[in-house]
Amino acid sequence: MKKHIIANIKMNQTPEESKFYLASIISKASALVDKRLTICLPYTSLNLGKMMLSGTDITLGAQNIAEEEEGLLTGEISGRMLKGCGVKRVIVGHSERRSRFKESGQAINKKIKIALKNGLQVILCVGESLVEKNTLKTVASLTAQIDECLKGLYENELENIIIAYEPVWAIGSGKTASVKDIEYGVKAIRKAVENNFSEKAGKEIEVVYGGSLNGKNIASIYNAEGLNGVLVGGACLDAQAFLRMISKC
Ligand code: PGA
Repeated sequence: MKKHIIANIKMNQTPEESKFYLASIISKASALVDKRLTICLPYTSLNLGKMMLSGTDITLGAQNIAEEEEGLLTGEISGRMLKGCGVKRVIVGHSERRSRFKESGQAINKKIKIALKNGLQVILCVGESLVEKNTLKTVASLTAQIDECLKGLYENELENIIIAYEPVWAIGSGKTASVKDIEYGVKAIRKAVENNFSEKAGKEIEVVYGGSLNGKNIASIYNAEGLNGVLVGGACLDAQAFLRMISKC
């Protein structure tokens, strides 16, 4: 199976800027043949992404989804609305949303169910804080997040879920986890999935790593044991630099 490269544009790019960005990436599509690239655009660029990415092998992603189907939620975007914009995958539970917007595990669990119900694949982010890492609570933290977020799901739904291991202390901080740290975290995630579902589920769930990836560290991390790819934030914003980075994988 080809590995994932997921680009999280975060709160960047006007539609015009997304247009130039996507055009640069699409023009180098041959560099991507052995990878599965997903670009998670801001909401305001999704429709444009739908048009530009149709007919390419690049998957259109979004960065968040409302925890309810429709109704009195001013400013929120529903699963149906994302689907209508051509979105295939959606990031859920990013640590920036957990901390800045106080998203709970319970809310993330609802978002996952709504996304799946609307035929969207989920990129579920989990990761330990620096305090948890320093007090040797990484496994406990990851296990609790997996237990809470995947509660009530059927095992066959896991084929539409990618788990992104994103240590909170590594996101946007310039501090990358070592390959050893990553393999340790990924193992804990797989074990938690196994405990909730089955040994097969723990083995087969796709897990990617995200957190301060750059042109220097991507190659070794991309090849870390048990990893199905990477999620890139800040370093994906410059299309040419991002393409150079991908070429090292
Ligand atoms: P970063 O972001 O690569 O800038 O650390 C990763 C993420 O937020 O998912």
